[in-house]
Amino acid sequence: MRFVSTRGKTVDITFEEALFTAYTEDGGLLMPETIPNISLATLQRWKGLSYVELVKEIIPLFVSTTEISLKEQQELIDAALSSFDIPDALRIERLTNDLNVLEMWHGKTLAFKDLAMSCTTQFVNYFLKKRDRHFTAVVVTSGDTGSSAMQNSIGLDNLDIIVMFAYQKIAKLQELMMTTIQADNMHVYAVDAASSDDADELVEKIFTDHKFVTEHSVGTLNSQNWCRIMVQIVHHVYAYLQTANEVGEPVDIIIPVGGFGNTTSCLIAKKMGIPLGIVCVSNKNDFLNQVLKTGVIDQAPSHLTLAPAMDIAFPINFERILWLLSGSDGKIVSKIMKEFRTSGSTTLPTDLMEKVKSTLRSASAGDDVIINTIQRCWKENEYHICPHTATAVACFYGLTEGYKHSGNSAICLATASAAKFSEAVIKAGLPLKRSPRIDDLNENDARYERLRKGDDWQEILRKKICSITAQSKR
Ligand SMILES: Cc1ncc(COP(=O)(O)O)c(C=O)c1O
Repeated sequence: MRFVSTRGKTVDITFEEALFTAYTEDGGLLMPETIPNISLATLQRWKGLSYVELVKEIIPLFVSTTEISLKEQQELIDAALSSFDIPDALRIERLTNDLNVLEMWHGKTLAFKDLAMSCTTQFVNYFLKKRDRHFTAVVVTSGDTGSSAMQNSIGLDNLDIIVMFAYQKIAKLQELMMTTIQADNMHVYAVDAASSDDADELVEKIFTDHKFVTEHSVGTLNSQNWCRIMVQIVHHVYAYLQTANEVGEPVDIIIPVGGFGNTTSCLIAKKMGIPLGIVCVSNKNDFLNQVLKTGVIDQAPSHLTLAPAMDIAFPINFERILWLLSGSDGKIVSKIMKEFRTSGSTTLPTDLMEKVKSTLRSASAGDDVIINTIQRCWKENEYHICPHTATAVACFYGLTEGYKHSGNSAICLATASAAKFSEAVIKAGLPLKRSPRIDDLNENDARYERLRKGDDWQEILRKKICSITAQSKR
C-alpha cells in the first residue's frame, strides 16, 4: 500500500517504512493512498467475530502479505493481544437505560492505548529483528501513551524509548507507571511544561529534521505513527457490530477525545463504509466545540482537568481529519497547517467547515459534570468509570455542553480504568477501584530526569539520542 502525506506529497513507501516515520519531509502525517471499502455482506460475515478475530481480518487489508505473511501477521497479533487480562482483550458492559460501555482498558497499563500499542510494538520488533537494526522512539505523553509504549516494549531488543511528560500535570499513578520501570533502554523526562502540547512542539522540531532522524533512526510510537491509527480502526468496527441490532443501521460511537487519534481511526472506519455517527467529547479543553462555533482553529491555552490524559489544547491528528474530510486535498491542508503554525490561528474554508460540521458532533464536559456522571453511573449500576470515560457517558446522559445524545443506538468508549484515576474516584466519594497492575507501584523506585525551565531541552534531547545511537553500535 502506498502512502500520502497530509500535506500533499506522494511518498511511495512500504508499511515497514511508514512504521518508522513520524512526519513526512513536507511536515505532514502519513495516510494510506486508498481506504478499503467494506461491503454490507462482509460486515454481516464479521458480525459474530471476536475482537481478536476482527483484528486479524482488518489488519491484512492495510498490511501487504508480501511484507509480513498472513501467518506471521496473525502470530504477531496473538503475541500482542495475549498480554491482556481478559481473553478477547476488550469487552462490553451493558448498563441501565441502554448505556453501552466498551471497556478498552484490560491491557498492561489500564488504558485503551494498549490495544494498538501492543500490536505496533510487535510489528516494530518484527522488522528490527529482520533487518538487525536499532530504533529510538520518542514519545510525548499526556499520561497514558508513555507507559503503554514502555510496558509493551519491555524485553524487545534493538529498541530504546524516550518518554516526555509534563511534570506534575498528569495523575500520580500514570507517572509511576512510567518512572518505576527499571530497564536500560527506557528513558523518562519530566518536563517543566504547561501541558504535553509544549513537548509536542519540541519533538516536532526534531522529527522534521530529516537528516538527524535518518542518521539516528528516530521515530515515534505516538499517534503520528500510522500503525497506531490503523489498529484502532478495529475497535470501532467491533463496537459497531456489537451495538447495531441489524447490520446496516447507524450507531453512534461516543469518544472521549484528546489528540483525536481515536477519532481519526473512527472516521477511517466510517469511510470504509461502516454506518457510524461520530460524537467527540472533550473535557474543558474543548478544541472541536470552538472550531464548530467559530470556524477558526486557534492555539488556545490548555487547562488542567480531572481527565488529565485529555488535557490537550491542539490535537495533532486534526490534520489527518481535515485531510480525510477535504477529499485528500493536501494543498488545502498544507495551507491551513502552515498558517496555523506561523500565526497561531487560521480560519477553515467554508466548504471544509461544512464537512467538519456534518461529520463530527462535538460536546464537552467540565470537572463538575465529570464528577456528577461518575456518581450517577455508580448509583444506577454500581459500576466505576474513569474521568475520561465519564465525558462520553455524560454526553449519553445529556449533561454535556454542545451535543447531547439522543436517538440512535450508541456506545461509549471507556478509554481507561477507574483504578488508574483514583483522584476523581475519591472526589466523587466512591470506593476505590483496585487493580493488581498498580497495587505494587512504589514511589521510591521512581527513576526519571527533569527538564527544567531555562534548560536547552532541544539540545538535551538530541544529545540523548546521539548517545543511544553510539551505544547501539557497540
Ligand atoms: C484515557 C484516555 N482517554 C482519551 C484519550 C484521548 O484519545 P485521543 O488522543 O486518541 O483523542 C487519551 C489519550 O491520551 C487517554 O489516555
